[in-house]
Amino acid sequence: MARVAAITSDKGGVGKSTLAVHLAGAAQRRGLNTVLIDEDGRVGSSLRWARRAEALPFTVMAADDVKPRRLAAFDLVLVDTEGRPRRRDLRQLAERADLILVPSGVSALEVDATRELLEFLTEEGAARKSRVILTRVPPVGRAGEEVREDLREDGLTVCNTLVRAYAAYQRAAEQGVLAHEVRDPRAAAAWADIEALAGELW
Ligand SMILES: Nc1ncnc2c1ncn2[C@@H]1O[C@H](COP(=O)(O)OP(=O)(O)OP(=O)(O)O)[C@@H](O)[C@H]1O
Ligand SMILES: [Mg+2]
Repeated sequence: MARVAAITSDKGGVGKSTLAVHLAGAAQRRGLNTVLIDEDGRVGSSLRWARRAEALPFTVMAADDVKPRRLAAFDLVLVDTEGRPRRRDLRQLAERADLILVPSGVSALEVDATRELLEFLTEEGAARKSRVILTRVPPVGRAGEEVREDLREDGLTVCNTLVRAYAAYQRAAEQGVLAHEVRDPRAAAAWADIEALAGELW
């Protein structure tokens, strides 16, 4: 059975689709046959990303095209979801996922929303499979490290890797490629964060 990792957050625009696409690329490079499922019916941005791309190095499927038999061929199923999920949808997601990834920015508002979401997941008995991923972290200063420590003190599991804010990700989205493929002085730094994160998760 493929492992299922779902990416969700209580706020929109935190970087779910960006992480989904890049983690899928990194997992595939680590030898996991990976499919990314776009469950964000409204925006569908990982699908749009894939349409811009000549070839992403992994499979992308719309939620409507998913058949259990089609998933059997994969080692890893990554699910990109819409922001602000209804609690009922979240409960279902928590039941079917082996890993729940919750990206969060480091601003106080985003961190509060992340705490609330993790509280809900804990009540649902899903704390053990939930991971906070701090993303769009300012590359300069210690904001990321500080938030990571605060959340850990509260008992949350926070990935060690901080995904820093780099324009390379925006360029990658525009071009329908992954960050290591764009011409940008920070492209390698952006990709190094993704590889480190994938190494922690898989
Ligand atoms: N690490 C990062 N550094 C810089 N920009 C980023 C980073 N991650 C995401 N972004 C940018 O932030 C914006 C929102 O990202 P993205 O679409 O991945 O968020 P989302 O959570 O999927 O949004 P939605 O809730 O609308 O689906 C995009 O312009 C993206 O390029
Ligand atoms: Mg998205």
